[in-house]
Amino acid sequence: MNKYIMTLLVAASSSGLALLAEPPVAQAGAKVDFEKQMLPVFKAKCFKCHQKEHTDEKGALKKPKGGLVMDSAEGLKKGGKESKEKTLVAGKADESTLYKSVMLPVSDDAAMPPDGKGDPLTDAEKELLKNWINQGAEFGAWK
Ligand code: HEC
Repeated sequence: MNKYIMTLLVAASSSGLALLAEPPVAQAGAKVDFEKQMLPVFKAKCFKCHQKEHTDEKGALKKPKGGLVMDSAEGLKKGGKESKEKTLVAGKADESTLYKSVMLPVSDDAAMPPDGKGDPLTDAEKELLKNWINQGAEFGAWK
């Protein structure tokens, strides 16, 4: 084996190791950790309107919009009033309105969050949501 090939092999194997050592990110192959990665996105961008019925700090009664409760695994599985079990179809992001709604142009009435009512998901967050659903939409220990 000549020296040039040796160098290539060493470079290839060390970059392989570097990939394995990387922290979990929104990659198709990397398993998404619901509580660590997905939940913070829901919290920041969806919980305002999609929590279990509760009274806010001003004492006003808040009902989950569209009947969709996103602060419990049960609520997410049950889905919204319209989409029901099509809200979250484990393994199929393209069939899940949870994913489809964030992919719509903001001008669409069904786009989430609704136009002007919250920050849209970043491309990385959309990718994360897609991967989490396609990997089976598992919640781990979270309920
Ligand atoms: C400012 C309030 C608000 C925020 C923030 C918001 N939504 Fe909604 N969402 C609504 C309303 C209102 C509806 C009911 C449908 C309608 O009237 O447009 C709805 C409905 C939905 C539905 C359809 C439910 C069904 O039964 O078909 C999905 C899915 C959804 N939202 C996902 C999300 C996701 C995911 C986020 C976060 C990225 C989010 N929403 C953030 C207000 C909000």
